[in-house]
Amino acid sequence: MKRFAITNCGPILTMAGAQIRAGRRMSDLGAVDGGSILIENGLITEITNAQPDCEQIDAGGRTVTPGLIDSHTHAVFAGSRANEYEMRARGDSYQDIAAAGGGILSTVKSVREADEDGLWKQSLKHAQWMLDTGTTTAEIKSGYGLTLEDELKMLRVIRDLGSETPLDTHATLLAAHAVPPEFKRDKDGWMQTICEEIIPAARELIEAVDIFIEQGYFDANDARQLAEAAKKHGLALRMHVDQLTNSGGAKLAAELRAVSADHLEQTTGDGVRELRRYGVFPVLLPGSVYALGLSRYPNARLMIDEGLPVVLATDFNPGSSPTPSLQMVMSFACTHMAMTPAEALTACTANPAALLGIADHAGRIEPGMQADLVIWDTDDYRDIPYYFGVNHAHTVIKKGRVL
Ligand code: NIG
Ligand code: FE
Repeated sequence: MKRFAITNCGPILTMAGAQIRAGRRMSDLGAVDGGSILIENGLITEITNAQPDCEQIDAGGRTVTPGLIDSHTHAVFAGSRANEYEMRARGDSYQDIAAAGGGILSTVKSVREADEDGLWKQSLKHAQWMLDTGTTTAEIKSGYGLTLEDELKMLRVIRDLGSETPLDTHATLLAAHAVPPEFKRDKDGWMQTICEEIIPAARELIEAVDIFIEQGYFDANDARQLAEAAKKHGLALRMHVDQLTNSGGAKLAAELRAVSADHLEQTTGDGVRELRRYGVFPVLLPGSVYALGLSRYPNARLMIDEGLPVVLATDFNPGSSPTPSLQMVMSFACTHMAMTPAEALTACTANPAALLGIADHAGRIEPGMQADLVIWDTDDYRDIPYYFGVNHAHTVIKKGRVL
C-alpha cells in the first residue's frame, strides 16, 4: 500500500516535540485523542480528524505508539544456555558459572562452531520475536565471536537482518566482551588486536564500539585505549559499566565521552551527576537483573529526578537476559524501578532514537517521520506494563508496511 490511513485510533501517543526527553519531560507523551494517521510511501504525512479518502486500516479505538526501539541487545547468537539457567535455579551464581568455563565463553564456542547460515537462521527467529512484540528498530552487538573472522560473521548477520527483514538494525562491535581463550594470559594483546586489526576491518559494518568493564573482564586502561581507537575511526563509544560491581564505571564513561553508559545497577549519586554533566545516556537493562535473580535494580528514579534522559533496553542475550520483549522490560521498570508507565514508554521510543542518532526519522509520530507504528490491543497504554507476560502488540507497521 503506497498511500493509506490508520483510522479510528484511540489514544495516539505521538511523542511529538523534543527529540531528547530528560527528567520531567519523560512524562510528556504528546497524546492526541483519536483521529487518523495518514501514511504515504512509508512516511507519516498527517494526523487528522478528517475522513481520509484512501485505503484504510481500522484501529478499532486501540492505542497507537511509535514502534519500540531496543538500543542494547546481543540478539545474534547461536546455541542456548538453558543448562546455566537450570544451574542458577539450583543455586550457582552467574559469576560461579563463568568461572567454571560457562557464561559468555560458552556462547563464544557455539557461535564459532556455527556457520554463517546457521547463525543467520537462529538470529532470524530472534528478530521475528522482536518484531512480534513491537520492536521495529534494534541495536545488536557482536562479541560472541572473538576472532576477526567470527566477529565479522556476526556483523554480517546483523547487517543482513537489517536488509532482509523489516527490523532496522544498528551494529556495535563488542570484541571487548571477554578475553578469548587464545589470549588467556595476554589481555593487552587482545586489546591491541581489537584496536589495530578488528576495528579497521569491521569499520564499514559498525556504528559504535562497546566494552564490558567488570572484574575479570576489562578495566579503565582498556577503555581508554578503545576510546582512542573509536575516536580515530569516527565511531561512537558505548560501555557496559557498574553491572555486578561498582568500579566507578559511570564516571569513566563520562570522562571518555561515551554516548551511553549501560547497566548502572551499582551506580550511585556522584556517578549519575557525571553522566548528566557530560550528556551520557543511561541505558538501563532490568531484564538482566530479573533473569539473574538479583534484587538491585538501577536507580532510575534518581536519574530521572536529576534530569537525565533514561533509556530502557532488553539486553537480549542467552546468558543474563533471555528476553526479546521491551514490554516485559517496561513492566520490570515500573514494578521494580519506580518508573511510571509514561516514562517507560518514552524510554523505549523517543530517547533510544536520540541515542542511536535516528531521532530525525524514528521514535515519534509526526509528519515526515518513518511510519514505524504499533497498534496495541488496549485503549489504555498503562496496560502494556501492567498486564505482564501478555503480548499486547496487535498490529506492527514498519516503514508503512503492515507486518
Ligand atoms: O550485557 N555483561 C556482559 N554481557 C552481557 C551478558 C552476556 C552473556 O552472559 O552472554 C550483558 O549482560
Ligand atoms: Fe549487554
